Amino acid sequence: MIIQRTSSESKFGTRRGDALMSLIGNTPLIPLHFEPEGRTIWGKCEFLNPSGSIKDRLARTIILDAENRGLLHADSNILECTSGNTGIAFAMLGAARGYAVTIVMSERASGERRKLIEHFGAKLVLFSASGYQTGIGITQEMARNDDRYFLPRQFENPINAMDHENETGQEILQQVPGPIDVFVSGYGTGGTLAGCSKALKARNPETKIVAMEPAEAALLAGEEACCHWIEGIAGGFVPPLLQGVSIDRVNRVSSQDAIAMTLRLNREYGLLVGSSTGANVAAALQCALEEGPDSVVVTMLCDRAERYFSTRLFDGAATR
Ligand SMILES: Cc1ncc(COP(=O)(O)O)c(C=O)c1O
Repeated sequence: MIIQRTSSESKFGTRRGDALMSLIGNTPLIPLHFEPEGRTIWGKCEFLNPSGSIKDRLARTIILDAENRGLLHADSNILECTSGNTGIAFAMLGAARGYAVTIVMSERASGERRKLIEHFGAKLVLFSASGYQTGIGITQEMARNDDRYFLPRQFENPINAMDHENETGQEILQQVPGPIDVFVSGYGTGGTLAGCSKALKARNPETKIVAMEPAEAALLAGEEACCHWIEGIAGGFVPPLLQGVSIDRVNRVSSQDAIAMTLRLNREYGLLVGSSTGANVAAALQCALEEGPDSVVVTMLCDRAERYFSTRLFDGAATR
């Protein structure tokens, strides 16, 4: 069964940028059948959001909430620290809605993501350290000195998880025929994992929630964070949004296995997705193998691959 996206423009009214906002969410859920494993994984096609990632949801909801609370004005400047996808999403919606956007990101993030953000007309502030903590500090310092800055605070803003509970999680519940055995997701801010797990557990407490972590940075599994190549997740700390979240198990996926599964999705299924999707599907397949051939395992297909041309995903060495 393939559930098609619906266009519900009326939900977002008729303001500038509303038409673009109406394209976000309501993504299809598709079955991916794996042979020789003999298992089917259900994948939520978040890469079909207009800027190419799951982060369009967060950007839309935070902007709408800030507008409703009178926090965004014509001279506001949306300022966020991000590994890329959130920056691209805010840059896109800022362009459509008419807000200035400034994105703080590590200079290690791929050049494609930087170019996309600048192409939408947003400003970039680069920092040299890895991990998000440095960048978050920079945004806080900038906002202290200029009250035109609006901080979405994706890492601690409860709206991030609430949106996934009220939208993404509900979509999954409508789309999956019958009870869900396992939901698998990696985490960056933790919003997807926290929100979807709450929605799915509320419907069926038996649904197992599995957190996917890079094997090289399995913090929830109690290990030290190290360098991994899975783009967009595991920024070196356990995000506050994951506190108190009911996680039944952690599945570790090595960077190499994540890239191998991403290439399999690209080449055997024609899905042009990035490495966090490969990691999610690898972890989901592992769960389906353990649960049995009729198990219903759902995961997220997070973003598109075109923003990773300069990374290992497109490096021939990964395939040799
Ligand atoms: C490609 C990709 N996958 C997964 C995630 C994780 O999403 P969340 O921030 O909701 O934990 C992100 C977030 O940055 C991402 O960019």
